[in-house]
Parts: sequence; C-alpha cells; structure tokens
Amino acid sequence: MNKFISIKTALPGPSSKKIDEKREKCVPKILGSLSPCYIDSGEGALVKDVDGNVFIDFTGGWGCLIVGHAHPRVVSAVKEQAEKYLHTDFTAVPYEPFVELAARLAKLTLGKSEKKVSFFNSGAEAIENSVKIARGYTKRKAVVVFEGAFHGRTLLTMTMTHQAMPYKCGFGPFAPEVYRMPYPVPYRPSIKIRDFESKLLSYVDPKEVAAFVIEPIQGEGGFRVPLDSFLEELKKLSEKYGILFVADEVQSGMGRTGKMFAIENWGIEPDIIAAGKSIAAGLPLSAVIAKKEIIDSLPNNSIGGTYVGNPVACRAAIEVLNIIRDEKLLERAKNLGEKIRKRFLKMKDKYEIIGDVRGIGAMIGMEFVKNRETKEPAPDETKKIIKECLGNGLLIAGAGIHHNVIRMLLPLVITDEQLDEGLDVLENAVAKVDEGRS
Ligand SMILES: Cc1ncc(COP(=O)(O)O)c(C=O)c1O
Repeated sequence: MNKFISIKTALPGPSSKKIDEKREKCVPKILGSLSPCYIDSGEGALVKDVDGNVFIDFTGGWGCLIVGHAHPRVVSAVKEQAEKYLHTDFTAVPYEPFVELAARLAKLTLGKSEKKVSFFNSGAEAIENSVKIARGYTKRKAVVVFEGAFHGRTLLTMTMTHQAMPYKCGFGPFAPEVYRMPYPVPYRPSIKIRDFESKLLSYVDPKEVAAFVIEPIQGEGGFRVPLDSFLEELKKLSEKYGILFVADEVQSGMGRTGKMFAIENWGIEPDIIAAGKSIAAGLPLSAVIAKKEIIDSLPNNSIGGTYVGNPVACRAAIEVLNIIRDEKLLERAKNLGEKIRKRFLKMKDKYEIIGDVRGIGAMIGMEFVKNRETKEPAPDETKKIIKECLGNGLLIAGAGIHHNVIRMLLPLVITDEQLDEGLDVLENAVAKVDEGRS
C-alpha cells in the first residue's frame, strides 16, 4: 500500500497531454523528457503533476536537488533577494552574496592552500573555464580526460565527453589537444594502475599537458568508482609532471557522497574543483574553486560572463550550504547510502540481472547485465526497469556508456519511509524484468 505515491490517471493524464500537444508544435523533438507528465509542484523528494499524480523522485532534477524540491529556506532566500535586485553583473556593480558564497566555498575545500572562487552558469561552463585557467597558468595546451567521462555539451566539453551517441553525433570537428585515457574500475578492468604512466607517455608529452580533468566518481558514465589508489597515483603523476589536477565535482559534489566534495574520500587536494548542479538547489549556478596562485596568475577580466554568479542563485546557494550544515546532510548521505547499498546487495542476491552495485555514500548505482559471466550489458532491460518504475510512480535515472545502469540521484532530504516506498517500486520493477527474460 503506497503512502506517498498516488497515480490517479493513465500516464500521462489529460492535463499533461494537453501541454504535450502544444509542446509538439514548438519544442524540438531532440529535447526529450524522462517523464511524460508535467510537474505542478515539488516538495522534498515528491513531485505532483498537473493531473494530481504524485511521484517519488529519485532523479532530483538529474542531481541538482540535494536539498529537495522547493526547500522553504531556499524559497524564502530567493524571494527576499528577488525583491531587492535581480541582476547588476558583478563586474558592473558588485554585491555581497557573491563574495559571501565565494568565502564559504573557499573554506569548504580540503587542504591548506588558499582558494579563490569564480562563478558560472552551468557545469559545462565551469569545466571550460577550469581548462582555460589551467592552460593560462601552465602555458600548456593539452588536456587529459578519461573513458566514460561526461563534462558537458559545449564544443570543448563535448570533446572531453566520451560518449559519441548522442552527445557528439555529427557535431564535429572537435576541439584539439584533448587526450583520453582509460578510467580504471574494478568491474570492467581496462588498465592496471602501474601501466597508466607509460600509456600516458605514449599518447602525449606530459610536459605539454595543462590538466588532468577527472570525475572522482563518474556520473553519466555509470557511477563508476575508480580502482583503489588510482586517484592518489594520478595526483602523484600530476605533481611529477606539473600537470594540474582538476576534479569535476559537478555531479559528485555538494555532499552526495557524504563529503562536501567526493575527492575528499581519497584525501586529495585538487588544484581546481568544478562544482555545479546541486550547488544552488536547481538555479543555474556553477563554481570553479582554484588555488589562489593559479587563478590570480590570469589577466583581469580574462574569464567571466554576463550572468555569472547571479545574486538570486548565490543567495540560494548560501542557503543550500546552511541546509547541508543544519540538517546534517553529509551524515544523511552516508546513512542513506548504507540503507540503499544493503537493499541493492540483497536484490543482487535475488536477481541475476544485477551485475554490480557500487558507489560511495548516497551516490550509488546498479549495473544490469544479460549474463554475469560475460557481463554483457542489458540496456533494453534497463530501459524497461526505468519505464516500469515510472508507471508505478517512481522517477529514476539511467546512466552508463552502455545505458545499463541506474543511479540514485535522490534528494538527501528524502524520508526513510519515502526511500523504502521508492525502493519497493524499484525492486518490483527489477523482479518483473528479471523474471520476464527467463
Ligand atoms: C560530471 C559532470 N560534469 C559536467 C556536467 C555538465 O553540466 P551542465 O549540464 O550543467 O552543463 C555534468 C552534467 O551532467 C556532469 O555530470
């Protein structure tokens, strides 16, 4: 018996269908949506659609809603700010929320080096600018990225992103000087850590490399956690060759793994951190947190943009940090992670289709395979599981180069009861699809 989920109409319901008819005429087909139902309102981990159906949301706006939908403290900070001023451009007339947020973020990162913070609008922009900063500081051109990476959709970040379909199809020529290395993981080993340096040397002169740009845990790539000690080895290589270590924390940051930034799980202080998504509870904001000597080496006005560090988004982000602190969301991420992992591992014992369960804190995913021996990916089955969940009131995100992973991007403010109800829907979907293939 569901306590939170309430599906009252066929999906999509009549009001959603009506909006959809209009959409078909004016919104490009390439902009698809996971849910066929349009949202009316959101609260915490719940989404109510325009027909009154209620869903549990494990997607959190693709990982932007660590503090949940419409957190009252964020809403009131946004309202208060909107009534005062919406925009000046910090480089025209500066404002305190920008400075306050920069000060808070700079203090939150690991390590002794002083940091300074610049703001942008999206994750891709944060990554583009991290690369610009790294190139400007090192006076080197090359960037090393990894298999399975997702860094965005602009020309440079699309080039840095691994997956061709759909992100790069027909969109070349791509940006030069981007080199891709294996991302060593336990489930599908691609390279031994001891062979990494020689492989790197075979691709590019390390003295030409400005930065390693790496997701400490891959997001779109399928919640892949690198092999033990790989990130430490990469850090050593970055020091050996004077290459900057850039952590793409757009998806893994802001507390999802139980640490403010995922890289802290390895005790590494990166030279640059790119943050985004959950930073401002869904408002468009991203940040580049760089060591002071790096960012201060660049000429004035060499980075920026009209809307970067918008005051409303900055106020929302300050409130996100307050909520993470006051509601102890880092602890909650660990606690949720333990519950989810336990449940997923139990499911793995029951359903052959589950090949791997992995992740840190609440950043946990499950990989589906046709055969546990061969590890042949099961993308069609994964699609069916996601669809089955949707039909039963659970919004859940897929991932992975082979489209065979589901990932938990749930708001950390979800209650235990909501989590259990959502996991029940997920388990029923996995059971049904697993049974249906035998
Ligand atoms: C790790 C990572 N980097 C960068 C991006 C790009 O962020 P945005 O879509 O805000 O440009 C994403 C988006 O999913 C991401 O997961």
